[in-house]
Amino acid sequence: MQLFLIASIPAHENFCAGDFGKKAVLRDNPGVDLLHCHQIGTCRAWEKAIMLRLIPSRNVPTIAVLLTAIAGALRADPVELESIPPALKGYMGREIAVTMHYLGAPWLTRESREREEECSTLLAALNLKPGMTVCDLGCGNGFYTLDLARRVGEKGEVYAVDIQPEMLRLLDERAKEAKITNIKPVLGSLIDPQLPPASQDVLLLVDVYHEFSHPEQMLRAMRKSLKPGGRVVLVEFRLEDPRVPIKLLHKMSKKQILKELPPNGYKLVEQFDKLPWQHVMFFEADPAWREPAVGSE
Ligand SMILES: C[S@@+](CC[C@H](N)C(=O)[O-])C[C@H]1O[C@@H](n2cnc3c(N)ncnc32)[C@H](O)[C@@H]1O
Repeated sequence: MQLFLIASIPAHENFCAGDFGKKAVLRDNPGVDLLHCHQIGTCRAWEKAIMLRLIPSRNVPTIAVLLTAIAGALRADPVELESIPPALKGYMGREIAVTMHYLGAPWLTRESREREEECSTLLAALNLKPGMTVCDLGCGNGFYTLDLARRVGEKGEVYAVDIQPEMLRLLDERAKEAKITNIKPVLGSLIDPQLPPASQDVLLLVDVYHEFSHPEQMLRAMRKSLKPGGRVVLVEFRLEDPRVPIKLLHKMSKKQILKELPPNGYKLVEQFDKLPWQHVMFFEADPAWREPAVGSE
């Protein structure tokens, strides 16, 4: 007998594991077939409805683990549900990308990343100093976090923020293995990275901003977390360059970035155009900017 279970997972509906994630699920859960549903082949459809074909006689413990996981995903924090407005599908003419699922995390630490993206060139361009407090916002499994922590040294600190606890767990494992102790993992929300006010010298966002489901709320909260003179560094795959082998939805043009950040209180102070695939744009809080009054258009 085969048992079919269809689980809708609202909390994860914006996450996209990609093919790598699906393979990982199948590898780690023998006895379970993950089938695409609805519009076969699209990430959103795969995440919105997961159909598990469970073969009871073969893998009862796996079934129990999966059911527990689904129950966890379905559990909603009532406070969060009340205070977080619905996720935007688009912002200022741009479609917002689905969040990269933690099952795809190995792609972030792939061996070829340094060669493809010249990550150490980016780190050098940040010009970090020992003792600084910096935030790896949307840190994933901490590919950049560990190097940031080494650069700011023992007297400095790195806040590592992500909305997926699983990403923070993966980061923690990597930090422990590397014996790095100046990292503070923070579980952010969709609207707030939960950073202390006026605490950050640098907020680094690598391939993250285009995934924000609530860009205005995030930009507002980020602004409050900057020290005077603190900087937000946006790193995004170049939409203008067809040679950059990344899906269009996960790329941004400079023009679009400049359409979105200044109206939210940021001014462009520097650009670094020497990476092979990405824009690097440095912003500071614009002192002339005034938050729009509540209820204004
Ligand atoms: C493509 S990954 C990039 C990870 C990392 N910056 C890197 O370059 O290796 C994007 C990450 O941003 C996180 N993310 C998306 N929206 C977020 C938000 N509002 N606040 C914090 N993290 C967010 C996702 O969970 C995911 O781990």
